[in-house]
Amino acid sequence: MNIIKVTLLSMIISGLMTSFAFATGDVAKGKNLFNDPKFSGGTSGNSCNSCHSDGKGLENAGMKKEFNLGGKKQTSLEEVINMCIQNALKGTALDPNSQEMIDVVSYIKSLGKDTTATKQ
Ligand code: HEC
Repeated sequence: MNIIKVTLLSMIISGLMTSFAFATGDVAKGKNLFNDPKFSGGTSGNSCNSCHSDGKGLENAGMKKEFNLGGKKQTSLEEVINMCIQNALKGTALDPNSQEMIDVVSYIKSLGKDTTATKQ
């Protein structure tokens, strides 16, 4: 009896851990994508890093609720990233819930953490 309970419990716990890891994203993978000109089908030869060198200028982007690119209003970081993918990389917009998007978002959010620009 007990072994069944333990097995069930460990299945639930490892399931939770897997979904947690998925939802948090991988900063290192996000950084690789940020430096990859072929990210999301990019064809312009630019990577994100070509314009945002080492993420410069994006330190606060992870905390912003509203953006203003190309005269339009965007209300999420994912929306802005997709605009840069489509317009600057000449790639295809990503599903906001895709692992690649989650990884790049994690990388951008990590940028604000080791600068003086970080708000308390
Ligand atoms: C050809 C140059 C170029 C490329 C390549 C580019 N961007 Fe941008 N990006 C811009 C410009 C211009 C802006 C608007 C001005 C600004 O905020 O720096 C911007 C704005 C942003 C913002 C919003 C910054 C803010 O705080 O408002 C984010 C986030 C961003 N880009 C992410 C990315 C990502 C991720 C990639 C790669 C998929 C990328 N960009 C590729 C030029 C580029």
